Amino acid sequence: MAGKLKTVYVCGECGAESPKWLGRCPQCGEWNTMQEEVVSVDKTSAAQSIAQSALLHEVKAVSLSSVEIRDVGRSTTGNGELDRVLGGGIVPGALILIGGEPGIGKSTLVLQMALQLPQRVLYVSGEESVQQIKLRADRISGGRQGNCMVVSDTMIDRLVQHIEQTKPDIVVVDSIQTVQTEKIDSLPGSISQIRECAAQLMHIAKTRNLPIIIIGHINKDGQLAGPKVLEHIVDVVLQFEGDRNHLYRILRSIKNRFGSTNEIGIFEMMGDGLREVSNPSEMLLSEVSADLSGIAIAAAMEGMRPFLIETQALVSTAAYGTPQRSAMGFDVRRLNMLLAVLEKRAGFKIAAKDVFLNLAGGIKVQDTALDLPIAAAILSSSSDMSIKQGTAMAGEIGLSGEVRPVARIEQRIGEAAKLGFKRIIIPKHSRIEPKAGRDIEICQVTRLTDAFRLLFT
Ligand code: TYD
Ligand code: MG
Repeated sequence: MAGKLKTVYVCGECGAESPKWLGRCPQCGEWNTMQEEVVSVDKTSAAQSIAQSALLHEVKAVSLSSVEIRDVGRSTTGNGELDRVLGGGIVPGALILIGGEPGIGKSTLVLQMALQLPQRVLYVSGEESVQQIKLRADRISGGRQGNCMVVSDTMIDRLVQHIEQTKPDIVVVDSIQTVQTEKIDSLPGSISQIRECAAQLMHIAKTRNLPIIIIGHINKDGQLAGPKVLEHIVDVVLQFEGDRNHLYRILRSIKNRFGSTNEIGIFEMMGDGLREVSNPSEMLLSEVSADLSGIAIAAAMEGMRPFLIETQALVSTAAYGTPQRSAMGFDVRRLNMLLAVLEKRAGFKIAAKDVFLNLAGGIKVQDTALDLPIAAAILSSSSDMSIKQGTAMAGEIGLSGEVRPVARIEQRIGEAAKLGFKRIIIPKHSRIEPKAGRDIEICQVTRLTDAFRLLFT
């Protein structure tokens, strides 16, 4: 059991410690985040296990030019989208954290991977019984049982025993909030428990060169529950997101010590598990046959991946005093900015109107190239004029109503052309390669009003 115990207050957001309770964290400035924790001042805890794992390697400075690069030997997960986000597969000894809201499909994703892999996977669940895991596995495996061993346990201190017994190639811990260690007296899910358990897992991963996948929950603000220190410890942080009422899920890489963080993976939640979506545009465009007003197609990018997405707007006269502005999948402050630009720079009376905005598929997109299609959808709805089918758009809108260049324009054009679009409206200052034989018309505009003229006259 632990040595000397002391009470500290730890910030749930940033992990800052204080000897007394404070209403506001002095480090990150968040209110009401300090939680009481009983911690042991035992030297065998987190800090030391990290130090130990550092000691495993010979500590000596060498010249960078003399360092030889060994093949890290990634092993594929058998899941194309997951491999893409991981940067090609799982690296031996990597500590991988998959975060997401409860019920988004983290356990399903990892179990599905475990069932597909020829390698031995040890699935440690602190959330479900072995029977529950079996029931789920039967649903999603399609008959395959893989080489997966399961154990329902919450004591991280017994993990080494389980590993010795089952000799796995990959370990899954579901979830970091439900496991605990005896070294610390606080409850599972508390910050010091999470920190200590993560440090122990890290120690196991690095000493045995064994990849460990940790599942973690996300709190209401979309942050990984537990202190930032968890993100610092692990090698890879993946975030699984999506709207629970929709079927599509995005797996995003937030941190990756072995690859790029520009990749995203897209999945669809089916009755029998998650399906990889390798062509996202097809699902994000609805099959509208008639020309409807309020719809514009954006040539968007998420990370390195281009896709076309339908933006829908509805503008109607405000029924109550203050007009409502609501946006699904898009930042509502950015919507307000676009409305102000439309009002002031395009002479378009919208102050007394309700504006609702929606992105198809229930996904969130952060790409600023959505500005132009969103402005077009708003104008289309407001004037009840539809945009001709087969037109895609991409462009950021500046405060003076100018259309600004966006990154990776060639990829956007390519994706629109691939999907049979006839015309794409892009910023004037985006440099495009002069390419013969493009079967898409490229219209370059400098101002928002130029784009509107092209679309609505
Ligand atoms: P789960 O993997 O348990 O989520 P998490 O581990 O992130 O909390 O998935 C939960 C939801 O997914 C659940 O509400 C039911 C749904 N689901 C399907 O739609 N199809 C399936 O095949 C499975 C296994 C789950
Ligand atoms: Mg789960």
